[in-house]
Amino acid sequence: MKVTISHIKADIGSLPGHSIVDEKVMARIQEYIEDHGKNLISDFRMAHVGDDAQITMVHTKGIDSSEIHELAWNAFKAGTEVAKKLGLYGAGQDLLKDSFSGNLKGMGPGVAEMEINERPSEPFIVYMMDKTEPGAFNLPIYKMFADPFNTPGLVIDEAMHSGFRFEVWDVIEHKAIFLDAPEYLYDLLALIGSKERYVIKRVYTKKENKKLPEENVAVISTDKLSLIAGKYVGKDDPAAVVRIQSGLPAAGESLEAFAFPYLVSGWMRGSFNGPLMPVGMKDAKMTRFDGPPRVVALGYVLKSGKLEGPVDMFDDPAFDYARRVAGEMTDHLRRMGPFEPHRLPDQEMEYTTLPVVMEKLKDRFVDIEKETLAK
Ligand code: F6R
Ligand code: MG
Ligand code: MG
Repeated sequence: MKVTISHIKADIGSLPGHSIVDEKVMARIQEYIEDHGKNLISDFRMAHVGDDAQITMVHTKGIDSSEIHELAWNAFKAGTEVAKKLGLYGAGQDLLKDSFSGNLKGMGPGVAEMEINERPSEPFIVYMMDKTEPGAFNLPIYKMFADPFNTPGLVIDEAMHSGFRFEVWDVIEHKAIFLDAPEYLYDLLALIGSKERYVIKRVYTKKENKKLPEENVAVISTDKLSLIAGKYVGKDDPAAVVRIQSGLPAAGESLEAFAFPYLVSGWMRGSFNGPLMPVGMKDAKMTRFDGPPRVVALGYVLKSGKLEGPVDMFDDPAFDYARRVAGEMTDHLRRMGPFEPHRLPDQEMEYTTLPVVMEKLKDRFVDIEKETLAK
């Protein structure tokens, strides 16, 4: 049976700043989908991570369905009305257009969706990050699907020994490239190490996969707000759907990619590098320096279009150490204040006064050769 998992998220306001979505907003989104989604979707779940409201839906309309996108858009609109009434901060901020026009592309919300042949048991994990950007998924997705030091199944499970195919988007030139791992491993790494430009969009099984030939097995939201809005309106906090088990990374191999809190860009004012902290839902709020950037993992199984779960996978002492390391990294980096590499290079900052400062100081620059005080 072919089904589509559509995960759609948007920041439509939070409290007290950009910390956490209000439960009343969540309740309104839920109510809207219950009322209007009956004939469109077979099941859905809601979550929020930091200031982003997240909807996971299951249906048979395929990816890029205008009906499904419109349902999510209208649900976020309904949630925005509540956010505005409550005076929540940044109410409706990701809804960049006045009215829906067939597809969510370029309209603000982030979309991660894939059409799949549902397996007899279809386990998957939805990862949701706040205060960072889509390229933050490059490293963990690479580790899950291409690094045997993270995923020993690549070496010891015959079913997945052939590796995986990566679809990488150049978000500046608007081009895509398909690269097979392990054959093109070094080329893949040469691109995705530049995580602000080359972003893993999807991962597929190869035809040699013994359990699941040529299917989409992971998808990441890559809708770059910076580009679609025409001006920089914010980093695009990403989400990913990752299928697991039986010829794919096991749940634990997938989660293992987050046990090391690597640096991602975003955090305060979208302008700083910080450690990605894996947290359970109870800690999915942004506090210290509006962060640190966090990732939540919700695990599901899908059967005949119905969801079981979620299980809050990082709500577990096994990830306490990663959280402690992320806390230590936070302390270390914060002491650098406005200096790189804690602060991002100026072309990657979401907020920058540099042009204003340069304008003010431009007539005060002197020729080093002729006019320095030492002469
Ligand atoms: C980063 C983020 C926050 C805000 C910061 C300032 O993505 O959402 O760190 O940038 O709280 O917010 P404003 O400019 O809205 O006061
Ligand atoms: Mg956010
Ligand atoms: Mg936000």
